Amino acid sequence: MPDELAHAGPEHLDPDFVGGFDRKQGRPDPGADITLLRSRGLSAESVVVDLGAGTGQFAVPAARHFGRVVAVEISPVMRDVLRERATAEGLPALECVRGGFLTYEHSGAPADAVFTRHALHQLPDFWKVLALRRIAGMLRPGGVLRLHDLLYDFAPEQAESVLDDWLAKAPEDPATAYTREELAEHIRTEHSTFRWLFEPMLTAAGFEIADSSFRASVFASYTCVKR
Ligand SMILES: C[S@@+](CC[C@H](N)C(=O)[O-])C[C@H]1O[C@@H](n2cnc3c(N)ncnc32)[C@H](O)[C@@H]1O
Repeated sequence: MPDELAHAGPEHLDPDFVGGFDRKQGRPDPGADITLLRSRGLSAESVVVDLGAGTGQFAVPAARHFGRVVAVEISPVMRDVLRERATAEGLPALECVRGGFLTYEHSGAPADAVFTRHALHQLPDFWKVLALRRIAGMLRPGGVLRLHDLLYDFAPEQAESVLDDWLAKAPEDPATAYTREELAEHIRTEHSTFRWLFEPMLTAAGFEIADSSFRASVFASYTCVKR
């Protein structure tokens, strides 16, 4: 088994980076994902697992809408921020749990939804498939996987031009976004995969793809239903 903490991305273990994480991420609005899950039948009784929950940008607001939200995080530094936020917000529905894609053991009622944002690419493809299979195992039949990640929506021969373009458009201020150097490091050392490899992985893991969208050929969003 890979050591998930060693693969978590060194920046996610760095208190300075984590301290500036929300500003750097741009605090994406969780509303659309919450609305999407509600439109798929989730309610105040539903169980949601957020894998690689980070500082709780989704898990914290989700805990105001769903019955039980389990925020799973491998980095102790991220978990500390998450726990502090959960305590400050006083949300009884929110649980912060130490674990990862390959190690979190779900207990209690099966999940109605699993959410994960910009975290699965930390695992190489073989382990990604096993993680997806584990996610299917946490969900009830008909349960939903809402996944956002960096995936490559282009043919191999387009790689250089698409990635050059992505790097060329990167902002310069590391406090408010990922810079060219950071994106280059992502390409070099992390495990974003091609869309046309990833979609068969979802199918092999037991999911039907209900919808997908891509932005800038790199930022993917999927809604999948467990068969
Ligand atoms: C880019 S952050 C995204 C955090 C959050 N999902 C968000 O969108 O704000 C990636 C997170 O995944 C966590 N992570 C990395 N590898 C993981 C693993 N194998 N299992 C669970 N979490 C992991 C990191 O510690 C980090 O908090």
